[in-house]
Amino acid sequence: MSKPLNIGLIGCGFMGRAHSNAYNQVSHFFDLAYRPVLKAVCARNAESAQAFAARWGYETVETDWKKLITRKDIDAVDICVPNNLHHEIAIAAAKAGKMVLCEKPLSMNTAQGREMITAVEEAKVPNMVWYNYRRVPAVTMAKHLVDEGKLGRIFHYRAVFLQDWTISADLPQGGTALWRLDASAAGSGVTGDLLAHCIDTALWINGGIDSVSAMTETFIKERKSNLTGKVEKVGIDDACAFLARFNNGSLATFESTRYARGHKALYTFEINGEKGSLKWDLHDLHRLQMFDHNDESRLRGWKSIHVTDHGGEHPYMDKWWVPGLQIGYEHSFTHQVADFLQGLETGKPAGPTFRDALETQQVCDAVLASAQEGRWMKVQ
Ligand SMILES: NC(=O)c1ccc[n+]([C@@H]2O[C@H](COP(=O)([O-])OP(=O)(O)OC[C@H]3O[C@@H](n4cnc5c(N)ncnc54)[C@H](O)[C@@H]3O)[C@@H](O)[C@H]2O)c1
Repeated sequence: MSKPLNIGLIGCGFMGRAHSNAYNQVSHFFDLAYRPVLKAVCARNAESAQAFAARWGYETVETDWKKLITRKDIDAVDICVPNNLHHEIAIAAAKAGKMVLCEKPLSMNTAQGREMITAVEEAKVPNMVWYNYRRVPAVTMAKHLVDEGKLGRIFHYRAVFLQDWTISADLPQGGTALWRLDASAAGSGVTGDLLAHCIDTALWINGGIDSVSAMTETFIKERKSNLTGKVEKVGIDDACAFLARFNNGSLATFESTRYARGHKALYTFEINGEKGSLKWDLHDLHRLQMFDHNDESRLRGWKSIHVTDHGGEHPYMDKWWVPGLQIGYEHSFTHQVADFLQGLETGKPAGPTFRDALETQQVCDAVLASAQEGRWMKVQ
């Protein structure tokens, strides 16, 4: 019989839904010592909280996160609110002795991130940051193949994350729906929002980044603020591109924008090594493209691996349907919950922990500083 793990969720938006779905699914598909129990959800508006609780199965609601984190019947606090709230809530939750699962990016900057690490490590509470793309089976497999040396020495890493939803100059900034355009709530624009995902995956697969050289642009300089009603300066980066040198000697390019007309969420990466290359595309997320130079020369070419097989060969897939049937975006969150719960059982924490995720924060800070100063920056 599994043990209950009482979840207190803060924030009922996109991620609040994605995580609630994962908590509801995980025990149906994974055999684990712990099972999440949807104990309480917090939204500032009581009616919204009630409606969310009824839809997803939360037992109770709160309208103040400070009340939720001190409740005796909560074991783990899940932070699904805008970036500027992560620091305060995570530290308070850790001090209250709760496990903390925090959405990405860990914090607004490296200094905040360090304080969050101190809090969870002093309190000795399990912690994790939701860089969920690591748990897309094809991405996990890319990591395994690189670790096994299938690509040999890595020369290049190339990642992009493209969207097009902020092109209109009439779009306001700030408030509940558009906090991502408000620097005081988001910290940065595409760097912390989208590139942070690309950086996390890259650090995980290809190791640490030594230095970066970046450029950013804010195409629409002023937007009406939903908070003040006035036209105000835009403080976020609309687009960011940077060069990076990895510690293993490989060279990389990263690009992200919300101005690539036609692209909604195109996250792709490609890795080129001495013996082969790998390519992955979020729009075709169950496939991993591979070129293996060791193949017989007349048969050499890019192959498309449908990462849906069982027997433990394709990560996570033995937990789902039958070989050949694919899964999707939401399953990456279910896998992350499963790994977190397994970490509680084995004592080997699932990554990225707060400490792991700080590295992404350090790269983001170096990228923004490089763009501002117009020079190469060492990552701290
Ligand atoms: N892992 C991923 O792929 C991924 C994807 C999207 C967002 N995120 C991250 O998740 C976090 C939330 O993003 P989102 O897309 O869910 O945003 P969202 O705007 O959809 O939801 C945020 C929710 O937080 C609520 N909120 C704000 N202040 C609050 C407070 N003081 N108390 C309680 N609730 C409050 C809002 O009302 C809203 O319901 C951000 O840090 C974001 O970067 C991660």
